[in-house]
Amino acid sequence: MNAITFLGNSTMIPSQCILRAFSRTSPSKYIRDTAFRSYPSRFSSCINQYRNANSDRIIRTTNAVPFCTDRQSSVTAQVVFEARSLSASTTCANDRTLDQIYTKNGLNVKPLVVERLKGHEKDEEVVNGDDKSVNRASFEGVKSNDLEEEAWRLLRDSVVTYCDSPVGTVAAKDPTDTMPSNYDQVFIRDFVPSALAFLLKGESEIVRNFLLHTLQLQSWEKTVDCYSPGQGLMPASFKVRTLPLEEDKFEEVLDPDFGEAAIGRVAPVDSGLWWIILLRAYGKITGDYSLQERIDVQTGIKMIANLCLADGFDMFPTLLVTDGSCMIDRRMGIHGHPLEIQALFYSALRSSREMITVNDSSKNIIKTISNRLSALSFHIRENYWVDKNKINEIYRYKTEEYSMDATNKFNIYPEQVSPWLMDWVPESPDSGFLIGNLQPAHMDFRFFTLGNLWSIISSLGTPKQNQAILNLIEEKWNDLVGHMPLKICYPALESSEWHIITGSDPKNTPWSYHNGGSWPTLLWQFTLACIKMGRSELAEKAVTMAEKRLQADQWPEYYDTRDGKFIGKQSRLYQTWTIAGFLTSKQLLQNPEIASSLFWEEDLELLESCVCVLTKSGRKKCSRAAAKSQILI
Ligand code: GLC
Repeated sequence: MNAITFLGNSTMIPSQCILRAFSRTSPSKYIRDTAFRSYPSRFSSCINQYRNANSDRIIRTTNAVPFCTDRQSSVTAQVVFEARSLSASTTCANDRTLDQIYTKNGLNVKPLVVERLKGHEKDEEVVNGDDKSVNRASFEGVKSNDLEEEAWRLLRDSVVTYCDSPVGTVAAKDPTDTMPSNYDQVFIRDFVPSALAFLLKGESEIVRNFLLHTLQLQSWEKTVDCYSPGQGLMPASFKVRTLPLEEDKFEEVLDPDFGEAAIGRVAPVDSGLWWIILLRAYGKITGDYSLQERIDVQTGIKMIANLCLADGFDMFPTLLVTDGSCMIDRRMGIHGHPLEIQALFYSALRSSREMITVNDSSKNIIKTISNRLSALSFHIRENYWVDKNKINEIYRYKTEEYSMDATNKFNIYPEQVSPWLMDWVPESPDSGFLIGNLQPAHMDFRFFTLGNLWSIISSLGTPKQNQAILNLIEEKWNDLVGHMPLKICYPALESSEWHIITGSDPKNTPWSYHNGGSWPTLLWQFTLACIKMGRSELAEKAVTMAEKRLQADQWPEYYDTRDGKFIGKQSRLYQTWTIAGFLTSKQLLQNPEIASSLFWEEDLELLESCVCVLTKSGRKKCSRAAAKSQILI
């Protein structure tokens, strides 16, 4: 029996592209449904629709299981059911079903008309949306040189299609690599610079498809050792697999990896955050806000937000995660409250606050998001920030203070201020950075680039702090940029620290890979941060430097050594996010006004509510002026 007979409709003819879940269904589902019992590895409870060959209608199968997990979500179950049952089976984008699902539901709809052209031609979109869309004319006249032409050719080569529609880009496409591991998959985080490069070129179809297909993966049944992680979790990556059917037919399926196959079984906490950030960017750049208004997309945003905002044992507003839950997806001592996750969390919450449609049922979540944003920025600004004076203060900390008014709230032992930090921190009060992690009796003083850059981009840091971070990068150019922008973190863990903290990881030896390696993909995020702070010249300097080597070195994933001189020991070549990050940086520099739609300015309302909360405990005066004074911290 194949998928067609299983669905049990004799009027259906096999299609070349039968789209369905390919998941590792949990044992409980097999018992509930006999069909599933017979085909446990091939069918997921998400198969609840198919396309009737004789009509263009979407039909719900009678034996559909409405949702893929037994867990309760704080998002109204009915809303989830409605949204998912209308969108859970992935559909061939070229039959326009993704749009039909939306209009069929008839909720909150602004009609969307998309005329798709073949090949690499620009999408012609007539969108009844906000007219804040980017003026495409501004892209014209931008001459790309040979280097950019090669980069574009490689980026287009990395595109993955699903039922003849582009849905993402593979992580790397090195023709000489015979063991691609999972680098032949579409990673959520890796696709972000590809998406921006395409969007900034006026090609939005691939991004829209990516957002909608990954949204459907969010509901997949996922299990690691019989345990299902939270419902809103987005996969780290997915692969389009082709499975044989009867005769010479085949079907394509999307096969997500939620960490259950990943090395170390790391949780892709950042995936959902990146998805939300990209969704906002899609709206800002294309002007097609109807995508984010769709009920299934709204539900997706809320599910991710709910997962992150769920009550736990946390004492801090920061998100508590396990090691390796982001770009650094191996053991590197970044469990707890790593800055990278907090900065992406903050950015995703700010995006969600903008995108969630305001109505009676969303009031609570919007309020929860706003409260968390206030508390998060206050906590990070106060406790993660270090400059010379703050380090001196920590160096002189008293410990074991039991009281509400303790100065050394986290009981940090001054011995943690290591000699490298005292030497490294700039003398000037105008330079500083946000530390990598904060937990009871533990400050991780390493400089993590992505977290600091996203703190600038999202205004998690104060304007003064944001400027000071760029000052630090400029002052420490040799350490943080060297021969190739930019170091993933500084300094590297060496000797016994490497041994204990990484577990003697041979891939993360000192000044290699995640342990102080240099990652060209960080260039686009640096560029965005520099443009925001009016420091484009710094970004230009970094791009010019990268330009000299990337093509000759075959677009490596990362570089090694203290100053990024060598191509990384185990670095992939033709790494897509290196290529896309470079192209995006170039485009952002050419179009700073578009770049400005991708970052956030300080939000006084958020500051005000934080100050007001503090006022209730009588510690600060509640006023807009008090909020403003926060900015100057
Ligand atoms: C490595 C990186 C990760 C990236 C993946 C695909 O695992 O650590 O950040 O997403 O490769 O490029």
